[in-house]
Amino acid sequence: MKTILVTGGTGYIGSHTVVELQEAGFNVVVVDNLSNSHVEVIDQIEAITGTRPEFEKVDLRDREATLEVFTRHPDIRAVIHFAALKAVGESVNIPLDYYKNNIDSLIHVLEGMKLSQVHHIVFSSSCTVYGEPDVLPVTEHAPIKKANSPYGNTKQICEEIMADFRIPNPDINVISLRYFNPIGAHESALIGELPIGIPNNLVPFITQTAIGIRDELKVFGDDYNTPDGSAIRDYINVVDLARAHVVAIERLIGKKNKSGYEIFNLGTGKGNSVFEVIKTFEKVTKSSLKYKVVGRREGDVEQVFADTAFANEELGWKAEKSLEETLLTAWKWEQYYRAENTPKSRTKK
Ligand code: UD1
Repeated sequence: MKTILVTGGTGYIGSHTVVELQEAGFNVVVVDNLSNSHVEVIDQIEAITGTRPEFEKVDLRDREATLEVFTRHPDIRAVIHFAALKAVGESVNIPLDYYKNNIDSLIHVLEGMKLSQVHHIVFSSSCTVYGEPDVLPVTEHAPIKKANSPYGNTKQICEEIMADFRIPNPDINVISLRYFNPIGAHESALIGELPIGIPNNLVPFITQTAIGIRDELKVFGDDYNTPDGSAIRDYINVVDLARAHVVAIERLIGKKNKSGYEIFNLGTGKGNSVFEVIKTFEKVTKSSLKYKVVGRREGDVEQVFADTAFANEELGWKAEKSLEETLLTAWKWEQYYRAENTPKSRTKK
């Protein structure tokens, strides 16, 4: 069985990808420092798939500890590197933490790969590299704009590091996946997005408001040059996104990649405004959401959505789930998680 090292595998996108990898027959080793996730996610992955992934609590900023992961697992065939800090606003306040965490970790992973002759890496990138795009939908050829946050800059720098690393190491194959806005949860409701503290992202804020943890959602701006004035994003189901990683791994291991460094946009190709997301959530949950419009959030772009043609044709992958279905999975997850984690349910166990 082929072994894949998944860094950040207890995180939001990482955990969904571990499930899809195991269901596709891969053996998975998860490393995570649990700085923004919970070790119980491993139990949930086992509950879904019937297989417990190997788990090691490792901080990838620690070079020796990272290299030891590779020596302990000489069967690793490929790496999916998710582990990173990802809050845009926070990155403005603690930029050095972002640079140290996101960049050192990648460097140590690449060093481990070189040491152990692992030739394939799938990298977790973001549409943030395009900034405010000049042309919509955004293709992979759109220019990289100056990053509007240290977080965004780490994604750009990491992509450049991998490109430079390949020059003296041409046997290394990279697929960089630029995510648009991943949302939703596994349909079992056993794993989902679990931000620690106040959510920055729209959908967890919506579900936490609906369940009564937050008073109201703040809509950041209704004066954008869009049909209803709110900002537009390409919201992609997290399981659809996770499946793309399996396809990328199979492409690398099967030597089907057409160059040593490939980049794919992962989105649905459709843009939805913040108001559309709210209305759809209200429709599928048959509830009304408390929200108010406030000023724009600094650093937000007006609209961004993917041209998916290249990913669809080259990877043979397509996002399938609708916004309706996806928001319902996010809501089911929120309800499941809160029910499981109230003091009452804890004493019951
Ligand atoms: C951002 C980054 C993305 C990163 C992601 C991770 C950009 C362009 N995108 O996505 O690369 O991977 O964060 O955290 O930097 N909104 C509200 N109220 C809220 C929360 C959000 O109105 O309480 C609005 C935002 O203004 C935005 C939309 O909802 O228009 C989506 O916001 P969010 O979920 O935070 O994602 P992005 O900012 O698009």
